[in-house]
Amino acid sequence: MTELTLGQAQRLTAPAPFALLCVRKADGSDNLMAVSWWTYLSNHPPMLGVCLSKKGLSGSLIERGGVFTLSVVGEQLQDAALQCGRCSGREHDKAREFGIPLEKASAVEASLVSDSRAAFECRLADQIEAGDHVFYLAEILACRGDAEIKQLFAFDGYARLGTV
Ligand SMILES: Cc1cc2nc3c(=O)[nH]c(=O)nc-3n(C[C@H](O)[C@H](O)[C@H](O)COP(=O)(O)O)c2cc1C
Repeated sequence: MTELTLGQAQRLTAPAPFALLCVRKADGSDNLMAVSWWTYLSNHPPMLGVCLSKKGLSGSLIERGGVFTLSVVGEQLQDAALQCGRCSGREHDKAREFGIPLEKASAVEASLVSDSRAAFECRLADQIEAGDHVFYLAEILACRGDAEIKQLFAFDGYARLGTV
């Protein structure tokens, strides 16, 4: 083995499961963010975690509203979902601009991405500072999905999405 930078290690350990995180903005619209640093945390109670850069908008919106959704989107959104990781909701209405269909969630205010393989409705339980990121731990309040949808994964860090 040879010494690796963290970036090289992240590229080597791809693919990473990919999702779109949705959180409500102050104006009532939904903001979508590309996320590959997410993980299941607990079965009882059901919990997952997302690790978000301090630079983006979504983390501050989660801290304000206390809820978000995480949708493991399908291959039909390959191009649009990547765009959600290339710009901020501070300047963009990503769902409208990239044509991403949303539907109402059952337990939280933020919307779900329609036609996802799995979509989770989450309530913030705790948060931990992790260097330049914040790790948000959340309880899963509801979950729905469709086994016929082929899920997307992130390859080469944040560079591209694809199926396996
Ligand atoms: C494939 C992919 C995966 C990403 N995963 C994450 C992630 O897990 N955590 C993170 O903080 N940013 C991640 N990003 C970058 C954010 O999606 C990006 O900074 C986005 O502009 C933040 O949007 P916001 O400002 O509307 O919250 C990813 C980007 C791509 C393209």
